[in-house]
Amino acid sequence: MRVSDLDTPAILIDEERMKLNLRRAADYARQYGLRLRPHVKTHKSVELARRQLAVGAAGLSVAKTTEAEVMVESGTPDLLVIYPVVGRAKLERLTHLARRTRVTVSVDSLEVARPIAEAARQAGVEIDLLAEMDAGLHRVGVQPGDELLALVAGLQQLKGAHWRGIAFYPGHLRGAADNLDGLRIVLSAAVAQLRRHGHVPEIVSGGSTPLLWQSHTIPEMNEIRPGTYIFNDRNTVLSGACTRADCAATILATVVSVAAGRMIIDGGSKTFSSDRTSAAEVTFGELVEAPTARFHKMNEEHGYVELPADAPPFRVGDRVHVIPNHVCVAVNLHERVYLVRGDEVTATLTVDARGKLQ
Ligand SMILES: Cc1ncc(COP(=O)(O)O)c(C=O)c1O
Repeated sequence: MRVSDLDTPAILIDEERMKLNLRRAADYARQYGLRLRPHVKTHKSVELARRQLAVGAAGLSVAKTTEAEVMVESGTPDLLVIYPVVGRAKLERLTHLARRTRVTVSVDSLEVARPIAEAARQAGVEIDLLAEMDAGLHRVGVQPGDELLALVAGLQQLKGAHWRGIAFYPGHLRGAADNLDGLRIVLSAAVAQLRRHGHVPEIVSGGSTPLLWQSHTIPEMNEIRPGTYIFNDRNTVLSGACTRADCAATILATVVSVAAGRMIIDGGSKTFSSDRTSAAEVTFGELVEAPTARFHKMNEEHGYVELPADAPPFRVGDRVHVIPNHVCVAVNLHERVYLVRGDEVTATLTVDARGKLQ
């Protein structure tokens, strides 16, 4: 099949670029002795999880237990649910999963941890726990210092679950240009305090795509969980962690209406997601064929593109490739993605864990 045979809108993945992105991160992790546990939220595909494992990932990270149920099919030796698991249905899923692979959960309270340990004990399985620390994002996580120490001490008392280390997500740091010294100091002090009290973390799990290439400069961190790096997107470009040439995912769209200085493409918020970039200007993607065009507004199924005088003339039926702002959310809106090599479609992949939100 050819790209020109595909109906639109459609997510295209440049297979060679994706492979390079996977290889580069795996080589980097190997070079610095970092364990790579990629977050699969970006692609939600069992096949792509397998490819991550094949080039060197030690395991996978997920946010949801239903995502974990899908991803266990990849044959991963290790699954981290990097999200507080709360509620009976989710605990049941966890204990079933723990019969099939090693399962770890990050927790930021004993209220979350106790039922996990109890469910594991009753099911006769083992579940590992990481104590989640707030590194500055102020989302989940206890404060480093005494709060973290108290949580770790509490986790070590639990029967049925094993405390193995700490986790954090530096989502407040949007790129290499941000000063990482605060994170370095906080993390070193937190780990030193745990050690002084006899709690030696085997795993210190952090990392993100914007900070991917700085990971080796963060002392104590020995595991990274990048997600977006497999495809990259406009946000990754803005963070400085990649160039436009490293963006493997584009959304193919068709021009369906043209007027002076503007046009409409056949996708809106249900195709691209409404996520903005971290830049001040509100735009929803970059047109590869017309980088100066402004994709500035969306309805559900309409994308509004303003065309400056220097943009090429577009006609109804023309196709454009759009680099999305936030590829992870866009992929979750599509049933499948197409791997491509030039004009050739090399594979059609189902977005297996699409909509797995529970
Ligand atoms: C807890 C956690 N870990 C890892 C990631 C991966 O981050 P990125 O997509 O920037 O690589 C995310 C992303 O949202 C996350 O929430």
